[in-house]
Amino acid sequence: MRVAIIVILLFFCKAAELRKASPGGARNRVNHGRAGGSRKSSNPVKRYAPGLACEVYTYLHEKYLDCQERKLVYVLPDWPQDLLHMLLARNKIRILKNSMFSKFKKLKSLDLQQNEISKIESEAFFGLNKLTTLLLQHNQIKVLTEEVFIYTPLLSYLRLYDNPWHCTCEMETLISMLQIPRNRNLGNYAKCESPQELKNKKLRQIKSEQLCNEEESEQLEPRPQLSGKPPVIKTEVDSTLCHNYVFPIQTLDCRRKELKKVPNNIPPDIVKLDLSHNKINQLRPKEFEDVHELKKLNLSSNGIQFIDPGFLS
Ligand SMILES: *[C@@H]1O[C@H](CO)[C@@H](O)[C@H](O)[C@H]1NC(C)=O
Repeated sequence: MRVAIIVILLFFCKAAELRKASPGGARNRVNHGRAGGSRKSSNPVKRYAPGLACEVYTYLHEKYLDCQERKLVYVLPDWPQDLLHMLLARNKIRILKNSMFSKFKKLKSLDLQQNEISKIESEAFFGLNKLTTLLLQHNQIKVLTEEVFIYTPLLSYLRLYDNPWHCTCEMETLISMLQIPRNRNLGNYAKCESPQELKNKKLRQIKSEQLCNEEESEQLEPRPQLSGKPPVIKTEVDSTLCHNYVFPIQTLDCRRKELKKVPNNIPPDIVKLDLSHNKINQLRPKEFEDVHELKKLNLSSNGIQFIDPGFLS
């Protein structure tokens, strides 16, 4: 019952936001604002303060989108596809998802500095084959491999400093890429944060022996399966069973998946979560703690018998 009320309340919040966000007249403004919004702050008016629309403009025949400092957590569906420069600094983006920028095929520069990025999926830059400049400084990235840059063959300027780089063998391909002499402007000044023995070492100066010592590479090898024994069955429910939609809003559709529990690894930027028609019969405390942007939750047709009063805290 309580859930139904929350869902309905959220529905009204959404309607209020839509009214707030309706264009103020300027032709060059596009819709803005975070796709999500913290559940804790229940005041949508603040989050959609008028006058903060993203700006699209042309300068020396090149089209720019300036969407800096807008509390964005993701790219928005109404941005023009022919942008050459995308300014997204000082937002709240946490994950760069596969193909997130793929429709912006002309993009030459992408400024993502001062966000909260901690994860970059391996095909996050898919389609950006004109990209020359990528700014990722002042984020929370720990590990990255060369693989993410296979879609950006023209990349010649890459900023990576002020990220908490965890310099282990996993980083070897990226570090080797930065050290190729012709890559003069890739990853300058970036330093390791951990492990302790490499702290403050510059990525461009680390030797691969320092990254990949024997013990560590053994740890990275897959553990041999004991023959005859089935692999350990995961007791936690995995959210990868569900469909993840990005547009128009980040949605995880887990309908009719026979789930007995709320899945454990829901992407943190999910705004809408549909768990209807499952077999979830209880909600544990802090069940949705990590899904910071969650606004709409559908738990209908589950036969819920027990709800911990703290499930939404
Ligand atoms: C919740 O899910 C049920 C079943 O899928 C659907 O009928 C209902 O409209 C949904 N409610 C909301 C508020 O989206």
